[in-house]
Amino acid sequence: MTRSIPNISTSRAQARARLEAVRPYLKRVVLFINGKGGAGKTSLTANSSGTLARALSTANSSRRVLAIQLDHQGDLGLDVNTRYAEGLDDDGASIRATLMGNGSLKVIRDVRPNFDVVPSGSILTEVAGYLKSLDTKNRLEARLRFVEAVASLAHEYDWIFIDCPPGDQELQILGLLVARWFVIPVVFDKASLYGLEGVADALEEAEEFNTAVQWLGVVMFAFERKDVRTYVDAASGEVKTQEGGQRARIRKKLKMELERLEADPGVKVFKSVISYNRSIAEDCRDYGRLVVEAADAASHPDWRKERQRQQLSVFTSDAATGLAADYEQFTAELVSTIRAREADAARATENS
Ligand SMILES: Nc1ncnc2c1ncn2[C@@H]1O[C@H](COP(=O)(O)OP(=O)(O)OP(=O)(O)O)[C@@H](O)[C@H]1O
Ligand SMILES: [Mg+2]
Repeated sequence: MTRSIPNISTSRAQARARLEAVRPYLKRVVLFINGKGGAGKTSLTANSSGTLARALSTANSSRRVLAIQLDHQGDLGLDVNTRYAEGLDDDGASIRATLMGNGSLKVIRDVRPNFDVVPSGSILTEVAGYLKSLDTKNRLEARLRFVEAVASLAHEYDWIFIDCPPGDQELQILGLLVARWFVIPVVFDKASLYGLEGVADALEEAEEFNTAVQWLGVVMFAFERKDVRTYVDAASGEVKTQEGGQRARIRKKLKMELERLEADPGVKVFKSVISYNRSIAEDCRDYGRLVVEAADAASHPDWRKERQRQQLSVFTSDAATGLAADYEQFTAELVSTIRAREADAARATENS
């Protein structure tokens, strides 16, 4: 780092007051976080925010969605195809500038209709080191600047989604200071809430200043589709689904873990599950497509022939439509869960 912020002494009380002042602008901020890598944080951030923006655009709504990448790996930029967009992706320079008090956040506008992105990349490795190198009060000041920078954009958005890195506590704290809700994704082969243990310290530190942040739930990511059975209910004639095998086992285990951790009863294991499909996932990241866009691509009549010619994996349009439907269901459940929690909180305030 060549520049540094002036030596400012921000007291903890002043910090809390500054954060309280911007909190009303940060009501619908959702963070995907897990202490370990490869749990689906980035795929969920890209596809939930992208799917929501697509639904808003289809409904001719003027409401907008912002996705913020807080990870030096830059995977979100790959997923939404901004990573190599010259003059657009700044590799995290604007996030560094906001922390240092000499710039504002870079927003890549109209990545898709109704959808904007704050990019980042390798500069965030430097940013994390910089934050660690500061004394407590200057570090707090830098963190506050980031929260205020996000809040200054927030009036333009109905929803803000943030992608967090797996291991970097300084960046996790930044995300948790901004967030209203956080969601922990878990993958089938490491399906325990160890992911929460990995962020417990960051959460404790953030909660001192962000009293609004709450754990919304756990989402099961990349689980085999074969473990879900669709059947017609004999009594009602309705089409229903039933989970079996690994999905059912792990759902039960996660619910038990939530009880063991004495999590707030509102913390849920999302009913929606993201199914496993590595070829679609790889295609999406390689080509900068959302899953719903991969489904569109695979429905093209020349898809199979062209993919085979290029010696690329071929997935069926049905498989991609199925995965896109998982993201649609999850996004709808996420939105309705947050709305229900907001309504509960409003009732609680009225009754107090
Ligand atoms: N539905 C899916 N089925 C199987 N694999 C998937 C699926 N979606 C994404 N993946 C792959 O799983 C890996 C991890 O996904 P992702 O990058 O979203 O996780 P992450 O938690 O952000 O990882 P990191 O901790 O490295 O940031 C990636 O290689 C991605 O391509
Ligand atoms: Mg990631």
